[in-house]
Amino acid sequence: MVDLRGFYSGRTVLVTGGAGAIGSHLVRALSDLGARVVVLDDLSSGRLWNLPGRPDVWFVRGSVTDPDAIECVFEDRPRTVFHLAALFANQNSVDHPERDLEVNGFGTLRMLEASVEHGVERFVFASSGCAFHEDGLPLPVQEDTAAIHPVTPYQITKGLAELYCRYFQRQHGLQTVRARLFNSFGPGEVPGRYRNVIPNFLYLAMTGQPLVITGTGEETRDFTWVGDIVDGLLRAGAVEAAAGEALNLGSGREVRIATLADLVIRLTGSTAGIRFAARRGWDVKTRLVADISKARRLLGYSPGSVSFEEGVRRTFEWMRENWDRIQWESEWGTTGHDGA
Ligand SMILES: NC(=O)c1ccc[n+]([C@@H]2O[C@H](COP(=O)([O-])OP(=O)(O)OC[C@H]3O[C@@H](n4cnc5c(N)ncnc54)[C@H](O)[C@@H]3O)[C@@H](O)[C@H]2O)c1
Repeated sequence: MVDLRGFYSGRTVLVTGGAGAIGSHLVRALSDLGARVVVLDDLSSGRLWNLPGRPDVWFVRGSVTDPDAIECVFEDRPRTVFHLAALFANQNSVDHPERDLEVNGFGTLRMLEASVEHGVERFVFASSGCAFHEDGLPLPVQEDTAAIHPVTPYQITKGLAELYCRYFQRQHGLQTVRARLFNSFGPGEVPGRYRNVIPNFLYLAMTGQPLVITGTGEETRDFTWVGDIVDGLLRAGAVEAAAGEALNLGSGREVRIATLADLVIRLTGSTAGIRFAARRGWDVKTRLVADISKARRLLGYSPGSVSFEEGVRRTFEWMRENWDRIQWESEWGTTGHDGA
């Protein structure tokens, strides 16, 4: 079994997108393990207040597409790169396809090139499980039989970035791991028109509005506690056998959207109920769940540290504690939620 503390202690690690919903937890976990962490983030969807203010965490505000910012974060010679920066997610990419290609495609290429140039040992890419499944194909989604089935620019560029990871491993010998994340949730995600369903349902309930289900409510997703995703990413960066692999990081469990809505109503005491709206054109997956046996076997990944209900309750608690900031910063719209 991998010794994460032994591996990361004293190691310089670069996290792009480190001020984001997942990245901020990853940065904290790396710092807890004794790593020196460099964060590159343009704060387009991340929050500086989500990052731990510690002497071993260095923040650089800049873009993964900007050569000067990239040069600056490689000055400290990181040995491991976690590349999480992205235009998030499906609906955002439908509205802004060029920006999606620039950040998620070109930005990833630039980070891979810089990683080779500066002798990085391993590059862990935050890919998305939603790009590798379509209705009618077998579930749970397995890595090795999955093909790219894009219905949004975001899914196209996650697939493209994975292809670049494979190419850089083959051509330049850079170890890459394609971590396919499934619907992360937990404290740290500020609701908004392009954000995930859990913070958005909580926000609607907390502001006395009905929860908007885009579909029938029978749709399912594989909601994964952010702490489990971070544990999987840490392992993906450290376990030797992960090099070159695609690995699903999900919970391996399906939850109906209607079940989630009932839970949110119960936890918040909302009396505003549920409103049904038409599904968006791209939102065509009725079910999504990951097969996580490969990550279990290769990484020792073992999600379930926090139950689904407890995770939603902790997310609600965090939103209550940070309510002033959240109300101020949510760019709330009416387009529903995402399905990354
Ligand atoms: N949250 C999920 O359910 C989920 C599911 C699948 C994949 N992912 C992937 O995991 C990664 C992290 O997701 P998240 O939920 O934390 O999203 P997030 O939006 O909270 O984090 C992304 C971070 O990247 C930063 N960023 C955006 N463009 C940038 C740029 N050009 N240069 C530098 N920084 C930039 C943002 O400011 C933000 O801090 C993303 O790559 C996302 O696509 C997330």
